[in-house]
Amino acid sequence: MVSGPGKNESTKRLPGWRTPSFVLEAARDPIAAFSRWRAVHGDLMVVDLGWTRVHVLQHPDYARAVLVEKADGFDKWAMRHIVSQILGRGLLTSLGREHKIQRRELAGSFGGRDFTRYATTITKYAERLCREWPVDGPVDISSDMGRLSVSVIAEILFDVDVWDEALELRHAIDTLTRRILDVVVRHRVGALAYKTSRFDSVIDSERVLARFVTRVKQRHQERGAQPPNALTHILKHEANHAPNYARDQIVTLLVAGHETMAHALTWALLALTTHEPEQKRIHAELDAVLKGRTPTEADIPLLTTPLQLFMESLRTSPPGWVFSRRVVRDNEILGHEVKAGDYVILSPYLLHRDDRFWIDPLRFKPERFAVTANEPSHPFAFLPFSMGPRACIAANMAKFEATLLLATLCQQFSFLPHGDTQQEELPRYTMKMNSNVYARVVRRHAPQDST
Ligand code: HEM
Repeated sequence: MVSGPGKNESTKRLPGWRTPSFVLEAARDPIAAFSRWRAVHGDLMVVDLGWTRVHVLQHPDYARAVLVEKADGFDKWAMRHIVSQILGRGLLTSLGREHKIQRRELAGSFGGRDFTRYATTITKYAERLCREWPVDGPVDISSDMGRLSVSVIAEILFDVDVWDEALELRHAIDTLTRRILDVVVRHRVGALAYKTSRFDSVIDSERVLARFVTRVKQRHQERGAQPPNALTHILKHEANHAPNYARDQIVTLLVAGHETMAHALTWALLALTTHEPEQKRIHAELDAVLKGRTPTEADIPLLTTPLQLFMESLRTSPPGWVFSRRVVRDNEILGHEVKAGDYVILSPYLLHRDDRFWIDPLRFKPERFAVTANEPSHPFAFLPFSMGPRACIAANMAKFEATLLLATLCQQFSFLPHGDTQQEELPRYTMKMNSNVYARVVRRHAPQDST
């Protein structure tokens, strides 16, 4: 039986005078800080900042209470204020009633109905990349997974082919999300007052996104509304929202739909380079199921190993490594009191490595996601897509996409180490890596029907 969070720890409150050192510790290396706090203070720690308190919650029971059972009592206020400088008021940053309406209006874009069409797009781009890779040589997998995921999401959701400008788009998004503080200052203080080369790159990146939005709208006018895609759903309700609604939602879906995916795919392929038995298992399954042909939607139930690889990558390096929520009204979480205006923090990264819920959590082991395996031992110890009303709207689509992409790439290539395989992770707005990631790819065989 899984025990609940340590009750002794739940009342611990750190004295105010120690607060600056805790803030500095978290700013320097948040993951190391959260791990140390859990070891020293247990599943719950309260940092008193004077004007607000931050409750660091490190047990899945707290996650269940905050994300699902008492979700109405928490909102994404801080995230909205910071990230909306880039994304505006799309689904990721909207709050309360506005969020509920947007979520309902967009739901049609992520339903299973269109998955057959999506499969063709997904494998088309994966095979395009395979054709560009050498028969045997190094490739920059981080850059290629970025290119692949941005191209797939742009075509699936908006019917535009951005393959040739994918790197520029990705660079723009990466610049904006890495320089999120610059973006906030630029919008709050004004570009003229603080014009520096750092802001120039922010302004250039915003222009790249603006060009993308214009292109998506032009394409929509050319093709009409059939078959419906995400933009059809956005434009149908545009009149009920703020003037920039269509722009904000297009940029939100582009950013949310590719950054996370690019990181997870890169991490998965990097892991394969150092886990030969896991790679052999995948090759054996792909050869048996596909017999050299391009995977389709019908193969998905049989392609279990690429999905397990993806899930294990999300466990070991979740792109959404931390969630923060503001307390909307005075409340209690499992007997612990929180006041309106306080913040709570949950870290999927640490829950995914908690040995109370995972067997040998530091080991990379995709089989732990086999249907017969019983991991984790707590349903809220694995939160790559979050849970509850703010969970990822595209979780099923992401798993579908990743299965087909990894199946296509692994069917055609083996992945071997090239250069440094020990990547340092950078916990920013989403999880990043400290440098580009390389692998040596060696061609196995091309599918029979690829040109
Ligand atoms: C590896 C793939 C993905 C991961 C790990 C992931 C993870 C997440 C997480 C953790 C959240 C909740 C964030 C929070 O509560 O602060 C989220 C929300 C969201 N994701 Fe994903 N995501 C992935 C792929 C996608 C894709 C392909 C799309 C498609 C456009 C997408 C669109 C969104 C949107 C729009 C939200 C906001 C939902 C809401 O607030 O109602 N994500 N995602």
